Amino acid sequence: MIEYKIGTDDIDWEGLRDLYGEVGLVGGLGKKRDLPKIREAFLISFKVVTAWDNQRLVGAGRMISDGVCYGMIFDLGILVTHQRQGIGRQIINILLKGHEDLFIHLTSTFGNEEFYKKIGFKKHKTGFAKYPIKSKYLED
Ligand SMILES: CC(C)(COP(=O)(O)OP(=O)(O)OC[C@H]1O[C@@H](n2cnc3c(N)ncnc32)[C@H](O)[C@@H]1OP(=O)(O)O)[C@@H](O)C(=O)NCCC(=O)NCCS
Repeated sequence: MIEYKIGTDDIDWEGLRDLYGEVGLVGGLGKKRDLPKIREAFLISFKVVTAWDNQRLVGAGRMISDGVCYGMIFDLGILVTHQRQGIGRQIINILLKGHEDLFIHLTSTFGNEEFYKKIGFKKHKTGFAKYPIKSKYLED
């Protein structure tokens, strides 16, 4: 059975680094396995949810928010061995629980748009983004 935890107190940081080493994300820090910066980003997040299979960290996601108006969800990642078992949906549910009044934004990775549609998100008609790097996610 998968167990879910809220917060960073019990995080297995090496496990988190390995998770994002596998699935990428965290603004490119995942593939670089840059644990100090990944840790810093998670520690100052508004809400962090992790998923555990016995003692193994198998999924995570986080929300950045003012807690009043807006929230942004980032870095939802599930180990390949544990994908398509409902863990991603559950992490999102827990991230949003208690914050139903917030306007929530997120960006899907290519190929996962249907996942977000399935769990109730809608495409934003006028979303804009500004990145410090060239990105295939941004129009010219
Ligand atoms: C995208 C991701 C988070 C989905 O998590 P998951 O735990 O595998 O998804 P779930 O099992 O909770 O899926 C919920 C539903 O969405 C569907 N779904 C999941 N990924 C999908 C995809 N890529 N395309 C279409 N449907 C998808 C599932 O089949 C399930 O459908 P159902 O309710 O009809 O059974 C996971 O695949 C992942 O970590 N990918 C790599 C990292 C990544 O790109 N993350 C996204 C960052 S924005």
